[in-house]
Amino acid sequence: MQIQKRIVPQAAPPSLDPKNIAFGKIVTPHFFCCEYRDGAWRDARIEPVHNFSLHPAALVFHYAQAIFEGLKAYQHDDGGIALFRPEMNARRFNASASRMSMPHVDEQLFLDAVQELVKADHAYTPPFPGSLYVRPTMIGVEPCIGVKSSSEFIFFILTLPAGSYFPELPSGAGAVDVLISESVVRAAPGGTGHVKAAANYAVTLQVITQAKEVGCAQVLFLDSAPQRHVEEMGGMNILFVDGGELVTPPLGGTILNGVTRDSILTLARDMGLTVREHAYAFDDMMERIRSGRITEVMACGTAAVITGIRGFKLENGARIPVGDAAPGPVTSKLFEQLQGIQYGRVPDRHNWVTQVVPAGAAVR
Ligand code: COI
Repeated sequence: MQIQKRIVPQAAPPSLDPKNIAFGKIVTPHFFCCEYRDGAWRDARIEPVHNFSLHPAALVFHYAQAIFEGLKAYQHDDGGIALFRPEMNARRFNASASRMSMPHVDEQLFLDAVQELVKADHAYTPPFPGSLYVRPTMIGVEPCIGVKSSSEFIFFILTLPAGSYFPELPSGAGAVDVLISESVVRAAPGGTGHVKAAANYAVTLQVITQAKEVGCAQVLFLDSAPQRHVEEMGGMNILFVDGGELVTPPLGGTILNGVTRDSILTLARDMGLTVREHAYAFDDMMERIRSGRITEVMACGTAAVITGIRGFKLENGARIPVGDAAPGPVTSKLFEQLQGIQYGRVPDRHNWVTQVVPAGAAVR
């Protein structure tokens, strides 16, 4: 589908010092938008960002028919700008759409739209260690209070200059404390935990607020079964260094197939590490941390990249420190490899990087 463009020239972008950008608050001047009506996507376009006018009965407001993606464009030292593994996001967007009874977006349209938007607003890409965060989203907008799948949708993409996801960690892998939610779960078998449904994030907000009150930056959720296995965090996957092996919970219908998770597992194998997908029982994980067998724990995701976890807090207030130093050596090495590829400083052996803006483009 042809993408129409209405690009309005802008005054010079504001200062884009990655250290001073609060994640998610600044949107670039243009966005991509198209609508689904009568069984087809129509009017694909890039235009100045504007509000939507939606009927109060739009299905998204009542039954949360909404999905999204998160990916990033990185400014290389030569001035070029490149996306990291956008095809994985295009595929996952459609997996989310299927689960949420929404229409697929042609993968080529998804990729073209992301690339054209990044090109249009590339001057808003902060330099290293910043990036341009890309947020494709789909919502059901048919006005109907009956519980049904919408017949009308909007697919739109925003781009946002980004620094660190965690404001307390301006650069590097860093490390945070994480609250373990023993009483609230985010996903159950047969549910939507494996896709990027907006509601998956809504159900974590109450606990994330509680976590922040006790000095934790994120929440680790356990499964819904009585065995209480470790699953995933509010917006990130989790990995452990256990006896020198890299261990992460297996994808099994309740965990998001993270692009960063997949990339780390590949890089770890490249580095000669043994990678194991294994679901720790909560008590087993605690015992392995206390005994020093688990030496490092890390969170990973597009927004968070790789962030060390220096300790867990329990609902009873106890704090369990992890390892001797956070981020630990494996976390730091994986972080450097991954970021090296993303910023074009390390050879891209897996063809993960898609150049969008050529070298020498005038960015700051
Ligand atoms: C991402 O990492 O892209 C996400 O969607 C997670 C969210 C915490 C920002």
